[in-house]
Amino acid sequence: MDDERTMDPTVGGDPCDPYDDGVITVFVTDQKGERHALKAVDGWRLMEVIRDWGLPIRAECGGACACGTCHVYVDPEWMPRLAPATDEEMDQLDQIWAVKENSRLSCQILTAAELDGLEVALAPGSEIDE
Ligand code: FES
Repeated sequence: MDDERTMDPTVGGDPCDPYDDGVITVFVTDQKGERHALKAVDGWRLMEVIRDWGLPIRAECGGACACGTCHVYVDPEWMPRLAPATDEEMDQLDQIWAVKENSRLSCQILTAAELDGLEVALAPGSEIDE
């Protein structure tokens, strides 16, 4: 797994860089099935990390938990390690399609050291219209 991280061209930075402290890697599979390793710092919304790395995520409401277009499927092994969804997030998930047991809104997941290696996939409905 570590080899994948260092081989992925989307991962920047220097492992010897002292400013890399607190940086984690999250793995995001896009709507075409391509898996990306994205570096992230603590305390950012996962949606922001995905968007800022240029992956196609619509995230229309900008993280206000009001659109559902940042929908992701979380690897089932990671689900118990996330903070539980709030009632607000559950209400929003009830209003979108293709929801599964492992559905979450990526704007409601905050990056943290314990989420290093988190694995998610962009769900249908999150793509950007062209
Ligand atoms: S960005 Fe709109 S609900 Fe997450």
